[in-house]
Amino acid sequence: MITYPQARTCPYHPAPGYDELREGPPLRRTRLINGQEAWVISGYEQARALLADSRVSSDRTNKGFPMIMPPAIAAVQTSPNRPFIVRDDPEHNRVRRMLISEFTVRRLKELQPEIEKIVHATIDAMLAAGPPADLVTAYSLPIPSLVISRMLGVPWEDHEFFQRQTRTIVQSRDPKDSGEAVGSLLAYLSALAQDPPPGLIARLKEEQVGTGAMSLDDLVVTSMLLLGAGHETTSSMISLGVITLLEHPDQLAALRSDAGTVAGAVEELLRYLTIVETALLRVAVEDIEIAGEVIKAGDGIVFAASIVNRDPAAFEHPDRFDVARQANHHVAFGFGVHQCLGQNLARVELRLALPTLFERVPGLRLAVPVDELDLRPATTIQGVNALPVTW
Ligand code: HEM
Repeated sequence: MITYPQARTCPYHPAPGYDELREGPPLRRTRLINGQEAWVISGYEQARALLADSRVSSDRTNKGFPMIMPPAIAAVQTSPNRPFIVRDDPEHNRVRRMLISEFTVRRLKELQPEIEKIVHATIDAMLAAGPPADLVTAYSLPIPSLVISRMLGVPWEDHEFFQRQTRTIVQSRDPKDSGEAVGSLLAYLSALAQDPPPGLIARLKEEQVGTGAMSLDDLVVTSMLLLGAGHETTSSMISLGVITLLEHPDQLAALRSDAGTVAGAVEELLRYLTIVETALLRVAVEDIEIAGEVIKAGDGIVFAASIVNRDPAAFEHPDRFDVARQANHHVAFGFGVHQCLGQNLARVELRLALPTLFERVPGLRLAVPVDELDLRPATTIQGVNALPVTW
């Protein structure tokens, strides 16, 4: 029986231990790292069907839920005041609806000039200080952090604090460290929510908390989710995106020669890298018949999204990185009612951050071999802890 999850050895390929999942049935039993048994889904069609099925639940307090997340995240996700990402409808949708207007394509179009300015200013600062540079701290992390902190109304002078706490929460295996990080971030956001600067937190406080539609605790935990999900993910995509493009010079050349390829290249990177994998977890709340098997009520379900996004039935020659591919149907943002709320924001950031970097720093290259990079552990958002570059 295959163990899930397993760590990557290359920043842009699925864990080698998942090779077995590519052969044979689209779902099978797996032994989770905490000793629990669950179903692991590797087929594209079955993954989409299950993620859209109302008989599966995202609620971590349901019996049988696959609990493979770091301990501090597990504590937040099972607390009575857990965020909407780990609740089912109608509670989930009640909060999602309050946020959706901030993340529409139209709203993001309005924000684009500001994001463009942030990208250029970040490159100016990196060029002034280097070479060399750690691309994570000089570029990948500041861009999405600045954007989400401005959207929410979180003061920029606190960025080192919230970046550090978020990183500890998603990465630390020490329950004490990560528990303290959760506590300090919640305390910080609670204090901020007393008298929030202009932004989404202030709007929610006035429109939702003020009318009794949302509790103050809910506002704080929602803000923590948006702040964390809003910078850790896109930051990882920028770092791994740069590595992938540098390691595939023909594809980088194609991207450079034709601005029309940028949007497609970003979708292909999202598919190829599939950085949010081990967060795609569910439990069946009724029996579900699928692909000749019965997932019983109470059975945990994990989605091997990196393998789902390389299912040859959905993507021809799936291991080929091809910026000209039409990959928009990938599941890198999930699927169904919980599909990523911030996907339009992430797309705008990636479509600006990646090509602008290669345009303005044409000699950019890795300062260490790819196999020496410090990769993130299997249970968290995939990425690198540091990315030494020069130009
Ligand atoms: C490239 C970057 C990103 C990736 C790959 C990504 C991936 C995902 C995935 C896979 C899910 C589904 C989780 C599930 O079904 O259980 C999700 C949900 C979510 N994402 Fe993202 N995300 C990214 C960027 C962002 C950004 C920038 C934000 C901004 C705030 C964000 C906010 C959220 C929220 C709030 C949810 C929960 C939605 C719900 O439950 O209705 N994400 N994301």
